[in-house]
Amino acid sequence: MGSSAESRRGVVLESARLRFATWRREDWPEFRILATDPRVVRYISSGQPWTDERIQEFVTRQCNHWEKLRLCMWKLLPKDGDRLIGICGLQPLPETPEIEIGWWLGPEHWGKGLATEGARIAISYGFEIARLDRIVAVAQAANRASTHVMEKLGMEFEKETVSRGCEVVLYGIARWQYKAGA
Ligand SMILES: CC(C)(COP(=O)(O)OP(=O)(O)OC[C@H]1O[C@@H](n2cnc3c(N)ncnc32)[C@H](O)[C@@H]1OP(=O)(O)O)[C@@H](O)C(=O)NCCC(=O)NCCS
Repeated sequence: MGSSAESRRGVVLESARLRFATWRREDWPEFRILATDPRVVRYISSGQPWTDERIQEFVTRQCNHWEKLRLCMWKLLPKDGDRLIGICGLQPLPETPEIEIGWWLGPEHWGKGLATEGARIAISYGFEIARLDRIVAVAQAANRASTHVMEKLGMEFEKETVSRGCEVVLYGIARWQYKAGA
């Protein structure tokens, strides 16, 4: 591990157990362990592990979102280390004017409330810092862990739709429905 200044580099948000960090383009190999784990990508598009090219595109896109929009799917780091354990944040939902919230964690971190903890920070950033009027989330309907996180955040089911070529359910929450700290 580098100096403490280096280890804090890019950290933009924190929760009780998590730190949220921005990406550098060269960080993409860190994301490979998640993006190639069949358990993690089971409900992501076709469910196939991502290629290196797709991982690099994702990381470059997140760098661009942060530079242009001041929001992205941030890296999730634990409070006591610098190893990437997941991603969580906000990004444009393709082919719509919406901003979506999303979350992925390594399987060893599931079932501890971490996605909900991270999502609460991301949603408060979206409404209070980025001043969004509305945030949506999409998931394949079978991904009950993910839709349950949406429900715990106070998001409401709106419709079935197609996103990134897959049938998904879309949940939404407007700024007026959002209760800080809830
Ligand atoms: C979705 C994901 C981030 C959830 O992470 P997590 O930290 O385990 O989530 P949380 O513990 O905060 O909350 C999950 C909730 O769903 C519930 N849950 C989990 N699996 C469930 C299932 N199969 N059916 C119904 N509920 C389920 C949990 O009990 C929990 O609810 P509770 O707090 O009321 O008990 C994690 O499963 C993941 O990384 N999956 C792979 C990537 C992915 O699919 N991301 C979402 C893409 S849309």
